[in-house]
Amino acid sequence: MQDKNLTEQYIFYRDLKRDYPLIVKGNGIYIYNDKGKKIIDAASGAAVVCLGHNNKRVIEAWVKQSQKISFVHMSAFSNEPILELSEQLVNMVGDKHYHVYFTSGGSESVEAAMKLARQYHLEKGRPERHMVIARSISYHGSTLGALSLTGHHYRRYKFSPILFSFPRISPPYCYRCPFNQTKKTCNLDCAEDLERAIVTEGEELISAFIFEPVVGAAAPGISPPVGYIKRIREICEKHDVLMIGDEVMSGVGRTGKFLASQHYQARSHIICLSKGISSGYAPLGAVLVEDEVYDVLKSSGTHAFVHGHTFGGHPSSVAVGVEVLKILKEKNLIEHVSDMGKYWLPQLKALKKKHKIVGSVRGKGLLIGIEFVENSRKGKKPFESSLVVRMKIKDECLKRGLNVYPGGYSVKGTAGDHILLAPPYIIKKKELDKITEILDAAIGTVEKALE
Ligand SMILES: Cc1ncc(COP(=O)(O)O)c(C=O)c1O
Repeated sequence: MQDKNLTEQYIFYRDLKRDYPLIVKGNGIYIYNDKGKKIIDAASGAAVVCLGHNNKRVIEAWVKQSQKISFVHMSAFSNEPILELSEQLVNMVGDKHYHVYFTSGGSESVEAAMKLARQYHLEKGRPERHMVIARSISYHGSTLGALSLTGHHYRRYKFSPILFSFPRISPPYCYRCPFNQTKKTCNLDCAEDLERAIVTEGEELISAFIFEPVVGAAAPGISPPVGYIKRIREICEKHDVLMIGDEVMSGVGRTGKFLASQHYQARSHIICLSKGISSGYAPLGAVLVEDEVYDVLKSSGTHAFVHGHTFGGHPSSVAVGVEVLKILKEKNLIEHVSDMGKYWLPQLKALKKKHKIVGSVRGKGLLIGIEFVENSRKGKKPFESSLVVRMKIKDECLKRGLNVYPGGYSVKGTAGDHILLAPPYIIKKKELDKITEILDAAIGTVEKALE
């Protein structure tokens, strides 16, 4: 094995000052560092490794396909795995009115969705429609189009001069309702905000609205009130705006249904997927496109979507996706996610009683967020951002053998600390108990240190 200390100078990590533990293997819900330390991967990487690490069937699927054919370019050829996976996806969604466009990741799926919306309107003779309305407190990816849609100050501000300036609406952040409503008084102002934005900007300029049905990295676990997504769809229909569901994190079973929007009996015109679709065994993404959009492009002058990436539809990556979906189905893992979420969420919510720095615990299935505040007994004031509480929690968890995914900036763009919990779908009750125990100890230590 390479000596990390000798060769590390050649690596360009994201954070150039942070020490990154060297992970040398994984198995099930565990990853292991070079010192043999066993760590529970309660983040599944970043809500990716849904089947857990070192799944032999998935690895075999990659190898088998690569032995047949590793690569053909989608501009010229079809391949067996894309035929199989597109059918599986349509079946899992339970709606035959979708068509699947393949990509290599989440940002690529979002870029494709943005361009698809633009081209759809163009082909329909509405050349002015180009703007995509997005929400604040959101993450849609790091490429310039996807970052333009992302509502996250820290990730955007260094690049703002080279981003598109698109309209933004408030999210259904019930813990800090942007409209100062409570559960009892809620009348879905956050959904109506979409109509306000469409009318204010001029509907003739709007091509689509993008949102995360259950929010991921930007404020994990935020779920809309009942009726929100249906109302959003109604508003979109009324103004001929396409609804794009970014289910890159929330899709493929993560929330206990194949799509998070299925909890709300609502469908999007375009759905972006990635992450869990390959369980991290290969780079893979997909965009599901409703008949209406597909048919317009098919009957257009170019009868083509003028877009594509070299690795979209990579046969070996897609073969991995085929196997992942087979396993999810065979082992009823999505139902298991739902059961585990119902078991775990109350346990995690109980941490609020024990620790005053735990402000909000929310989520669906195994997509859960914990938001930290100075003192929840006295209010919802976030910590000073210089304290970087999320990293303190992450480090204390790691010391105890637990990997969680930290994030921030959900409060007024500059403050806010949270962690994302998204363990592999194969996790069992006892292992969830263990995670809760470690979290309890880690939060307790940080809480004390902050006093
Ligand atoms: C909801 C959502 N959309 C898009 C992306 C971007 O995906 P990728 O990092 O694969 O480009 C992410 C990644 O975390 C995400 O959570």
